[in-house]
Amino acid sequence: MNQPKRYLITAALPYANGLKHIGHLAGAYLPADIYVRYLRAQQRDVVFICGSDEHGTAIPIQAMKEGTTAQAIIDKYHPIIKQNFDDLGISFDIYHRTSAPIHHETAQEFFKVLHQNGDLETKETEQYYDEQAKTFLADRYIKGTCPNCANPNAYGDQCEKCGTSLSPDELINPISTLSGNAPVKKATTHWYLPLNRHEDFLREWIIKEHGNDWRASVVGQCKSWIDGGLQPRAVTRDLDWGIKVPVEGADGKVLYVWFDAPIGYISATKQWALDNGKNWEPYWNDKETKLVHFIGKDNIVFHCIIFPVMLKLHGNILPDNVPANEFMNLEGDKMSTSRGWSIEMDDYINDWVKKENGGGQMADALRYYLTTIAPETKDSEFTWKGFKTAYTSELSDIFGNFVNRAFVLMHKLCGGKVPPFHNDLVDDKDKELMEDIKATKEKVETLIEQYKFRDAQNEVIDLARKGNKYLQEKAPWAKVKELAENPEAQKLIDNSLHLSLQLTANLAVFINPFLPFTAQKMLHMMKVVDKMLQWENAGSLKLLSVGYTLRAPEILFRKIEDSEIAAQTDKLKVVLEKQQAATAATSATAPAQPAEKAAKPEAAPKAEIQYDDFAKLELKTGTIVSAEKVEKADKLLKLSVDLGTGTRTIVSGIAMHYQPDQIIGKQVVVVANLAPRKMRGIESQGMILMAEDANGKLHFVNPEEKINPGAGVS
Ligand code: 2FM
Ligand code: ZN
Repeated sequence: MNQPKRYLITAALPYANGLKHIGHLAGAYLPADIYVRYLRAQQRDVVFICGSDEHGTAIPIQAMKEGTTAQAIIDKYHPIIKQNFDDLGISFDIYHRTSAPIHHETAQEFFKVLHQNGDLETKETEQYYDEQAKTFLADRYIKGTCPNCANPNAYGDQCEKCGTSLSPDELINPISTLSGNAPVKKATTHWYLPLNRHEDFLREWIIKEHGNDWRASVVGQCKSWIDGGLQPRAVTRDLDWGIKVPVEGADGKVLYVWFDAPIGYISATKQWALDNGKNWEPYWNDKETKLVHFIGKDNIVFHCIIFPVMLKLHGNILPDNVPANEFMNLEGDKMSTSRGWSIEMDDYINDWVKKENGGGQMADALRYYLTTIAPETKDSEFTWKGFKTAYTSELSDIFGNFVNRAFVLMHKLCGGKVPPFHNDLVDDKDKELMEDIKATKEKVETLIEQYKFRDAQNEVIDLARKGNKYLQEKAPWAKVKELAENPEAQKLIDNSLHLSLQLTANLAVFINPFLPFTAQKMLHMMKVVDKMLQWENAGSLKLLSVGYTLRAPEILFRKIEDSEIAAQTDKLKVVLEKQQAATAATSATAPAQPAEKAAKPEAAPKAEIQYDDFAKLELKTGTIVSAEKVEKADKLLKLSVDLGTGTRTIVSGIAMHYQPDQIIGKQVVVVANLAPRKMRGIESQGMILMAEDANGKLHFVNPEEKINPGAGVS
């Protein structure tokens, strides 16, 4: 694409069901904000969209937990999250809500268009129903054992332990979370988006068109979805919280949250246009708009497969890129608000940002560290020690130190004014620094446009590092002694400080997308206006006029005390102790369990079956002839199992219990007529039976004595 006419930048709409943590910030909002601030500095036409995702079962589930209504939950969390983003400098043009009437209308219109064009299918299926609660059960209301990793607390849509997306039918021993009873199956009709009709389009668009410019992890995830076989996807639900399905015969049904949420980007654009006297339509309909979705990796399928199919059918533009990030862990463990193992934006703001009376120094401290460890290519790790080290040894000792030195020396040696530059005395060191300033512009531009924010920010620090080296080598303070006998000494002092100040001004322009509060402080010190931060000024050596009076330096980055870091790590220790105490309490009530493990809940009994049901199973003995770990799947082993008549590939969730070389030669019982299923891109041609003990440990179910592979089991 040539220079796009306009940009529409979205960041995933967070569920308004609770506080959001800094992993969320690092995953979507901060990189999006850096990109948008860069585009604004380039004076591009850009709109930055976000808002609360207020539907789906996450909201009523939280309402149940807090003993209140779904409406009260969204009204409580929406304003807090909005304010948190604001305090951390995330500069949305609008932070909208999917509960707004304009969103309901937009989502309903969207559904109707697809429905009227015959792009949706209806299907009657049997779905889980809770007879006591008298309601169909949304996927999230059903819990059971994950078929992939045996986690007993997997949800009907996803196992949060192994990350596999599931359907309720795949859960072993499903239970309704509303009543605690085993649900029954009941017929219900739903509308489906037949993704299978769009396979060719998706292959062409994602793999052919964007296979090289999108992140490899994004393309890889999409490819394995497509290769796994696309299925029609239900876009309605039996639920009483959400957007009513706007067609006849859909009483009691709402749009699936993942159908309505991304349409939230469109409705928010409409609201932004209304508020600002603009026309929203070209942002979604004109091919010269560059649409970019910033998300975390758990949202890839929705933004790269489902929503694009919806956009195509509805006649809108498609995203130009979806730079999804991996996850950020915290001190060695996955961040999770529900387990308390996270740093909520709200907590960070209370502990660090509010104490500093505006100025945003500590907001920038967090932005800086999160960008240095941005999980752009792999999961990364936040540690408080890392936070302090990055802040102190890079931000403060390199960037802050350079700016401070340049200002202090200019006040001391040049009377508080920008000194002239004497061209006749320019030397190689000056020239090298001038070149470095210019080159940084190119490098930062290229990196930001490739969504490599971590490297881009490093370039800025690197330039400040070069500034320090330059000042050190030029040592203008040492020239003072020569003033009496060397008429050129003052000129040499002038030159080094003139260039150092031009570099300071450039650093403000470069750092602005990353650390906007710092850039503002620098503007204040230089007594210049916002306009100086425009990107076209980057690389210029004429940003500050000769003779211009500058203010006294301010400390850009104050010292972080060890005690402040200790207070944070202590908080995490408390969480750990609580977790350990809870585990120990569970074990105490189940003395047969090992002390450090929680007992597994007893599975609910399954409904009675007839002999014919059982007879449908083809169970055979087999021998494991090879086993290997499945890449990027902690829980899975790929097995080759000899069934007498041939060897089958079987993917099994036993990797946490057995090493591959421990199980070669083991006899197993195999469900031989189970329909093949793709797992992590590998076709699993059957299943091996395992018994799970009360600690969750899996044991082989096998014949007492070795028998030939292929023997029938009945
Ligand atoms: O994963 C989530 O938090 C979702 N609420 C993201 C929605 S993004 C978009 F589609 F709205
Ligand atoms: Zn699992």
